[in-house]
Amino acid sequence: MSDPAVPTDPGAGGPPSPTAPRTTAAAGPPVDAGRRSFLLSGAALLAGAVAARRGPTGLVSPPATPLPPATGTVQPMAAPTTPPATEPFYGVHQSGITTSAQKHTCFAAFDLVATSRAEVIALLKAWTIAAERLSRGLPATVAADAQGPAIDSGDVLELAASRLTVTVGFGAGLFSQAGTDRFGLAAQRPAALVDMPAFPGDQLVAEWSGGDISVQVCADDAQVAFHGLRQLAHLGEGTAQLRWLQNGFLADFGPNATVRNLMGFKDGTGNPAVADPTLMDAHVWVGAEGPAWMQGGTYVVARRSRIALEHWDRMPVAFQEQTFGRQKRSGAPLGKKLEGDNPDFDAVDADGNPVIPENAHMRLAHHLNNDGARILRRSYNYQNGANLVAERWPPWHQGLEYDAGLLFVCYQKDPRSGFIKIFTQMAKFDMMNQFVTNLSSGLFACPRGAKPGEYLGQHLFEPA
Ligand code: HEM
Repeated sequence: MSDPAVPTDPGAGGPPSPTAPRTTAAAGPPVDAGRRSFLLSGAALLAGAVAARRGPTGLVSPPATPLPPATGTVQPMAAPTTPPATEPFYGVHQSGITTSAQKHTCFAAFDLVATSRAEVIALLKAWTIAAERLSRGLPATVAADAQGPAIDSGDVLELAASRLTVTVGFGAGLFSQAGTDRFGLAAQRPAALVDMPAFPGDQLVAEWSGGDISVQVCADDAQVAFHGLRQLAHLGEGTAQLRWLQNGFLADFGPNATVRNLMGFKDGTGNPAVADPTLMDAHVWVGAEGPAWMQGGTYVVARRSRIALEHWDRMPVAFQEQTFGRQKRSGAPLGKKLEGDNPDFDAVDADGNPVIPENAHMRLAHHLNNDGARILRRSYNYQNGANLVAERWPPWHQGLEYDAGLLFVCYQKDPRSGFIKIFTQMAKFDMMNQFVTNLSSGLFACPRGAKPGEYLGQHLFEPA
């Protein structure tokens, strides 16, 4: 059955082949030019889409230290050897969380400028349809006629889906703003969606932090990822306004390899295995302890952490390794051989000093030293160009410094026993802190995934 008001989906009849180009539907009635009316027609579109679908800087320069040779054999980390070209949209959980990390991300937060609950629902319906279509390599919306406004920018028309995923989260501002229950949701704000405590050393910029709704769009192609985010922002005009956006990238280190961050260290080694449902249930997915609409969902913490790469690059490798508690080349814990080896926090050297320093990042972050707390990190490198720096102290260095670092993203079932638990001691003691400035921070509740015919967040707005 297909709704005559809904243009035919060119992908109907089954998912496109991995290399199938996006095609704009030639047939179909013009889409209403009015953005608001387009959003409010989301319900019809949702039903129709389902019907149609089948288918920082240092002044001292220590001597350069050569990188030691690789030790041992790197133990492969869990990741699929041949990732599929498309990632499923529908499911118990939203995609883009345990999905093996794509090469690019666009992580954004929006402020809601909607004045009614119906408008927010319409937005989520439109975003659900668009996200599902984009994940199949289709334009976000079906194009209007040649005289009509461009609904999809069309800048990736010939490109495949590139494993695009869209992950949506709800910030505290959706539930209430300045004490106002603006969408009738205040009573449903989950206890775990806390106001993030202030941490020592944070230099958060308000305009780059917070937001009412987060959208993470990941894909193996940078333009495809940005295109996805751009279409969602376009659909949200008049309802949701872009607040901040940060792109991120990961290099291709090959199948089964842990990626390296801009500090040159393997990043992701200590993650809980996404293929282990017991670990995911224990640390990532909200269970019966949470509200019904969040069960199968998770909480995301996203922080833009600028790294003083100019300073870091002058540090001897041995110092860098002490900072993390891991070997640079192999990724093995200090004192061990392989990346996958367990760290020995009790080991001491000939002088009786800990092999893994007391303030090493990995020691402070490890679950054995945090009452079992674990998070699933899904971070990306970022590089936003360079900024002018003029030091007001000798030798009054002036020049450009990188605006680059880590878009730290982590998922957990409860930030109080996840990120906040771990970062509380890390923020005070971590050796890595001298190189890192935390510029932005957001916490969002990612609802469970949608089934065909549902929209993301439906169970929040329409409890069973
Ligand atoms: C610029 C910021 C950061 C950088 C460059 C960074 C880098 C790293 C590196 C290289 C490792 C060792 C390899 C690995 O297990 O992945 C690591 C481990 C880890 N990091 Fe970070 N990290 C950053 C921020 C954070 C933050 C804010 C948290 C959470 C509060 C965190 C939590 C962890 C955890 C839980 C581990 C695993 C420890 C283990 O079990 O061995 N990191 N990080």
